[in-house]
Formats: sequence, structure tokens, C-alpha cells
Amino acid sequence: MKLLILNGPNLNLLGKREPEIYGTQTFEQYFENLKEKYKQVDLSYYQSNSEGALIDKIHEVGFSYDGIVMNAGAYTHTSVAIADAISGINTPVIEVHISNVHKRESFRHHSFLSPVCKGVILGFGLQSYELALQSFISA
Ligand code: DQA
Repeated sequence: MKLLILNGPNLNLLGKREPEIYGTQTFEQYFENLKEKYKQVDLSYYQSNSEGALIDKIHEVGFSYDGIVMNAGAYTHTSVAIADAISGINTPVIEVHISNVHKRESFRHHSFLSPVCKGVILGFGLQSYELALQSFISA
């Protein structure tokens, strides 16, 4: 099973960025633990701060991978173009967020991506990513 974790803008700063919201672990550390735990899965990771690069990655894997776990960061709330990219591929996408965006500012309450994703997992810290992976693995 081929799965991709796709992170959007500012998520390269995890561990340093607003640790009271996003925790103190870097994503690289967390990803190594996931790879170790889910050895049966062909698991890859890509992060970009650029909307176009994220769309290119969705196009690249979206006809051959079994699933994408995507945290689009702030693009979640702004990007019709990422929503269109998700609509245009065959691979199912699960939207994840580290924080519970519904507990936060109102501009974070709307997602352009949720209507075109298989499901949404949010508010469980970094564990949101693992829950999404488990959902693909047990499907
Ligand atoms: C986030 C929530 C977004 O509102 C924010 O812009 C992020 C991170 C999260 O994982 O909680 O960058 O997607």
C-alpha cells in the first residue's frame, strides 16, 4: 500500500512554531516513528510552502497511490485550486489538522477541502496523521 503524507505551509516549522498549539516534536521525528511502526506500508512524506508545488505533488501521486493524508495548513481555508486538484485525481485524500480548528478563529472554521475529501480528522495533535493512516490501512 502506497500512502503519502502531504504537509502545506509553515508545517516545516513544527517543533518551533507556536508549541502551545502544535507541540514540540518536529515532523521529521514523528514521521520516522510512523515509518518504523507501519513498516508494511510504503509511506512517503512531502512538505511545501508553495501552493503550486502541493498541487504538482497531488497530480504526481494522485493516479497511482492508495491514499493521501493532507494537512494543507492555511491553504485549507483559502485554496480553491487545491480543492480542484483533489477533485481531479483518483486517489482518496483525508484532510487532517493538528489543532481543533473549530475551537479557534472563525476564519479557520471553513475548509475548501473538506467537501472533496474522503474524511476529516482534526484536533488530536500529531496523532491526527496516524488516525488517518490507520483508516486507510484498515479500509
Ligand atoms: C492547521 C490549522 C490551520 O488553520 C493553520 O493555518 C495551520 C495548521 C493544523 O494542523 O491545525 O497551519 O492546519
